[in-house]
Amino acid sequence: MSRIYIFTGKGGVGKSSIAAAHAYKSAREGKKTLLVSTDMAHNLGDIFERKLSRDIEMVMPNLDIYEIDPAYVCETDFADIIKYAKNLLAGADELAPADIGIIPGTEELFSLLKIAELHKSGTYDRIIVDCAPTGETLSLLKFPEMLSWYMEKLFPIGKVGVRVLAPVSKSLFKIEMPNKQAMNDIEKIYMKLAELQELLKNRETTSVRIVSVPEKMVVEETKRNYMYMNLYNFNVDGLYINRILPEDIGNDFFDKWIGLQKEYIGVLKSTFDGLPIYEIPWYDEELKGIKNVERLVSDALGDKDVFACHATTERESFEKTDDGYVLKVNIPCADKGDIDLFQAGADIVIKIGNFKRNIPLPNTLMNLSVAKAGYEDGKLNILFTKEEKGDENE
Ligand SMILES: Nc1ncnc2c1ncn2[C@@H]1O[C@H](COP(=O)(O)OP(=O)(O)OP(=O)(O)O)[C@@H](O)[C@H]1O
Ligand SMILES: [Mg+2]
Repeated sequence: MSRIYIFTGKGGVGKSSIAAAHAYKSAREGKKTLLVSTDMAHNLGDIFERKLSRDIEMVMPNLDIYEIDPAYVCETDFADIIKYAKNLLAGADELAPADIGIIPGTEELFSLLKIAELHKSGTYDRIIVDCAPTGETLSLLKFPEMLSWYMEKLFPIGKVGVRVLAPVSKSLFKIEMPNKQAMNDIEKIYMKLAELQELLKNRETTSVRIVSVPEKMVVEETKRNYMYMNLYNFNVDGLYINRILPEDIGNDFFDKWIGLQKEYIGVLKSTFDGLPIYEIPWYDEELKGIKNVERLVSDALGDKDVFACHATTERESFEKTDDGYVLKVNIPCADKGDIDLFQAGADIVIKIGNFKRNIPLPNTLMNLSVAKAGYEDGKLNILFTKEEKGDENE
């Protein structure tokens, strides 16, 4: 079974270069490797000094590169899903038979579905994903969860809900409930989304690696990225600190910068304590061409088993306590005051900034309510008890 490595980080920090170095190292180890770019501004061709097409291309033995064009993937690989979705939209009174493109984010979703399909095919030992800068990647990764959440609420598959919901939905959502055929279609899309989520959050299959550089703004964003990855329960199992200045420049101007870098390397190391951290020097030229990719590999990755999962970030968990249950969600680097928490029906909703995560509650917790919540040591602990709902103190 192939393992997936997702490289994420702020714009320009070196994601593509580092992902390329991993792909190169992996191929050299004799593992069948695919390097995929989900960033529309592809630049893997520049790094490997090759003109690439929108299909999978072999660039060296054991190494294929795939710069995904989501619109093209939609047409060629997911024509059936598009058809289902179009049928679905056509079934809605208020919506004209519309193009699937009207739902924001759907095109990008196809990049992920394509990666899942390649994973399932078993062709590759390792799939290395070079992402677009943080913001886009986060919306891409949370999208399957968000979409399947909406689908579950609107079309509760396999539950009596469909019939019960039908009269409600007509007035509330101004849409006809889909007929049986359409329900099957919805079920298929839903299953694919659920599978995708399962794949990306599974610690056995998927690693998220964060790339950073030791400077204030990037470090801040790296922390936020780490927090959101944890909020959505992705497994971060490595940090790369790129562009580290050499110590021996012997120049006052750079000595100051070296000092500042040291400070931020310290911050990053304490934030990511317990996870593998890789340090990469700042080179005197751009990382272009195999020669430079090799240099990065031998300097920073060479003798390390960078493909092993040496540590994992914690999963969220439900634990039984004397008077109820506690839901523990790992959210390092969050600001206590920014966390918003509420219970909505069968879900607990955690909101931080513009990001919101609905965590469905297991049946055992349905009759309980949130008694209190606290944020400590990077963990949000939410206590559920039978008592009347008390004050939430975060
Ligand atoms: N350690 C380094 N030393 C010198 N140049 C570097 C280093 N790391 C990256 N670069 C250069 O910095 C630029 C950005 O790197 P890269 O494209 O890998 O970043 P990215 O995070 O993928 O960017 P984007 O967010 O635009 O996709 C490139 O020109 C690359 O060659
Ligand atoms: Mg890039």
